[in-house]
Amino acid sequence: MKKKVNFSFVQTNPRFGKIEHNVEKGIELANKAKEGIIVFPELFNTGYVFRNKKELENLAENARTGHTAKQLIKFSKSKNSTIIAGIAEKSNEKFYNTAIIISKGKFIGKYRKIHLFYKEKNIFTPGKKIELFNIDGINIGIIICFDWIFPELSRKLAIKGADVIAHPSNLILKGLGQKVMLTRSVENKIFTITANRIGIENRENTTSNNELKYRFTGESQITSPNMKILARAESNKQSCKSVSVNILEARNKNITKMNNLFKDIKIQKLS
Ligand code: ACM
Repeated sequence: MKKKVNFSFVQTNPRFGKIEHNVEKGIELANKAKEGIIVFPELFNTGYVFRNKKELENLAENARTGHTAKQLIKFSKSKNSTIIAGIAEKSNEKFYNTAIIISKGKFIGKYRKIHLFYKEKNIFTPGKKIELFNIDGINIGIIICFDWIFPELSRKLAIKGADVIAHPSNLILKGLGQKVMLTRSVENKIFTITANRIGIENRENTTSNNELKYRFTGESQITSPNMKILARAESNKQSCKSVSVNILEARNKNITKMNNLFKDIKIQKLS
């Protein structure tokens, strides 16, 4: 297993519904990343604010064979890298807010967002499954955006052995998700990579003008098991940043000689 690995995020500003443009721009930015693990935002290919299910139906793709997956498979091969990216997925007439994981030219798998945020509940089906992906000896867990507020999910991934949690996001609540991901890092002694988007998406029109305008908060970041921010983007600029980390930092769960983060957990034994 390689101990040193590069982690990167891509912070994009997608145009709603313009999948080919958004994928091309995302890949253009990601070309600046160092070879390694590169995380793209939630729904980076479609944009976030669907007016209704029909719009989602028109834009959602097959996770493995859709345009976005095909382009990322090509890119991951040329970059010799692993990509985790948020897309709108269509499967058996259901729609999921999904992150796909692709490595060095191969589709590896996917995670479907479990905790849907606000009006996402009207159009997406929640996921039911968490999974750990082992790539070159590195254990990667995935959560998507609002999943951040449920510590049980990151904890479960950490107990399964996650070294890093990839966190494709479209964060809206200013600064909250980014702050809490620092806690998710230290309470589990893992790395986290939050890839957020920027910009305002305004889908309001005369027939429906209720709450279809969102501002996204940027400030994508990479955090360490000892609660350091290793890289952070600005709130209003597209960017791509990479850091080199020693993955073994996430394998040592001792806090003192007498305290181990997981062995000391008592809560399951309480009534
Ligand atoms: C969110 O879960 N996209 C706020």
